[in-house]
Amino acid sequence: MKLWIPFALSAGSLLTIASFVGAGWDAPPVETTQIGFRGTGMYIHRDVEKQEALAVANVVPEAPWEADPAGDKARDLYENVQILGDLSDDQFNQFMASITEWIAPEAGCNYCHNPENLASDEVYQKVVARRMIQMTQAINVDWQSHVGQVGATCYTCHRGQAIPTNYWYEDTEPKPAGGMTQDRAGQNVVAKFGGNSSLPQNVLKDYLLDAKQIRVHSTTALPTGTNLAGTKQTEATWSLMMHMSESLGVNCTTCHNSRAFNAWDESPPQRVTAWHGIRLVRDINANYMVGLTPVFPATRKGPEGDVFKVGCGTCHAGVQKPLNGVSMLQAYADSLVKKGPMEVPDFSTYQPGITQLMAPAGQTATPPAEPAAATTPADPAVSTPPPAEPTVVTPPAAPATP
Ligand code: HEC
Ligand code: HEC
Ligand code: HEC
Ligand code: HEC
Repeated sequence: MKLWIPFALSAGSLLTIASFVGAGWDAPPVETTQIGFRGTGMYIHRDVEKQEALAVANVVPEAPWEADPAGDKARDLYENVQILGDLSDDQFNQFMASITEWIAPEAGCNYCHNPENLASDEVYQKVVARRMIQMTQAINVDWQSHVGQVGATCYTCHRGQAIPTNYWYEDTEPKPAGGMTQDRAGQNVVAKFGGNSSLPQNVLKDYLLDAKQIRVHSTTALPTGTNLAGTKQTEATWSLMMHMSESLGVNCTTCHNSRAFNAWDESPPQRVTAWHGIRLVRDINANYMVGLTPVFPATRKGPEGDVFKVGCGTCHAGVQKPLNGVSMLQAYADSLVKKGPMEVPDFSTYQPGITQLMAPAGQTATPPAEPAAATTPADPAVSTPPPAEPTVVTPPAAPATP
């Protein structure tokens, strides 16, 4: 009896159906735009149905009110304003109201503040937020080569959530069995940060945190010994390219002419913008995100203990220009398009629920946690932090996990 035949046939047809239904392919109708000469493969394909959902997800929220720039400065009105001191009271309050909507619309001000003492830095989210303000200012001031006049606000990444939807971390799971299989080199798993491809996982650390060379292409038909890139490097760069394509919801041809992936003079202009984007992402990961490692609790880190890092999708979220190229900066010109003080406190000393003042060295003295610390003389040049009270040691209610 050849009983296996009907079994094999039904398994085969189920697999075929599954590959069409389950693979997340772009089902018709697909919209195709020609962006180069005929016959050169320069087309962009878009799933029409997905476009509708993306349009809805990319509506820009209004500023809560138009802030009056006149009046006393925040630094004179409040005790512990380290970055936004130049804002007027109205601008400062408008900014606080905006970041509440952008980051924690449900939890409200208390997501970052102890309501009993708004000046205290005991809630770790406030310490992170302060650094994020510096980061966003740097993006808008230093990285116009990428973000142009559109720029970024907290909303570009956060979209009403404490943790943005798209980020990456080191992921070495599942761990290989050991012995000769010890080093999997990121292979044989679904590369979730590489567009769900079978390309190597974990390459983003090399390219979007460290500055590993991305170019692998030989410029001559025959080997001359000058291009030392092997298959492994090539695969790793392709994994990065999948990450970039997926993050923007585009094809390779949005940035490359497929007849010569290396040639800049044949590439669409978007490739140059992307080149700056890679450098922007390296800067913010290396100089802002990683430094915050001691401040984040373990639940906000990956399995290897690294913080969640920014990728192209953190801002782009599946569209070629974040929020479809609509700028939110107008209402935040004084808070997010100018750089305030850029010094960084020593985050390794931060103790959530205890630290009352987190400021750069030399600027302010952080009072130790013990109540005895109340006797520490305050630096006259800076606002005096309230001494830590014994009750403050209990951390505020844990924020809801997004
Ligand atoms: C996402 C985090 C976050 C949220 C939410 C938030 N704040 Fe803040 N708040 C901060 C940060 C960071 C500072 C310090 C800014 C600086 O150092 O320049 C601050 C400072 C303040 C201060 C100055 C306190 C002082 O005396 O030094 C006040 C007042 C304030 N916030 C009010 C509010 C109000 C009211 C809300 C809700 C509408 C709110 N904040 C929501 C992060 C937040
Ligand atoms: C380029 C993207 C990006 C921008 C812009 C950005 N953030 Fe973030 N933010 C992140 C990422 C990614 C995390 C998660 C890090 C982690 O959990 O390890 C984060 C985490 C946070 C957290 C911690 C939330 C928690 O519960 O742990 C706060 C608070 C925060 N951001 C505030 C802000 C504020 C305020 C702004 C604007 C001034 C801002 N962010 C702008 C990417 C961004
Ligand atoms: C958003 C723009 C963008 C998209 C989409 C994109 N690339 Fe790239 N690609 C770049 C940039 C920018 C570089 C150069 C990076 C650098 O030099 O730092 C590059 C470099 C490359 C290189 C190396 C070229 C050399 O000189 O060695 C290859 C190969 C490549 N990309 C292939 C692809 C493939 C395949 C896809 C689609 C899966 C793709 N790219 C999608 C922007 C893009
Ligand atoms: C901080 C947020 C942010 C991050 C992170 C980011 N981008 Fe962008 N990107 C933008 C903004 C904003 C624009 C729109 C600029 C404009 O219209 O002038 C843009 C535009 C682009 C464009 C040009 C689109 C067009 O059609 O003109 C490309 C290509 C691009 N980004 C690629 C990337 C790549 C690749 C990465 C990751 C390496 C990346 N971006 C990361 C904010 C970001």
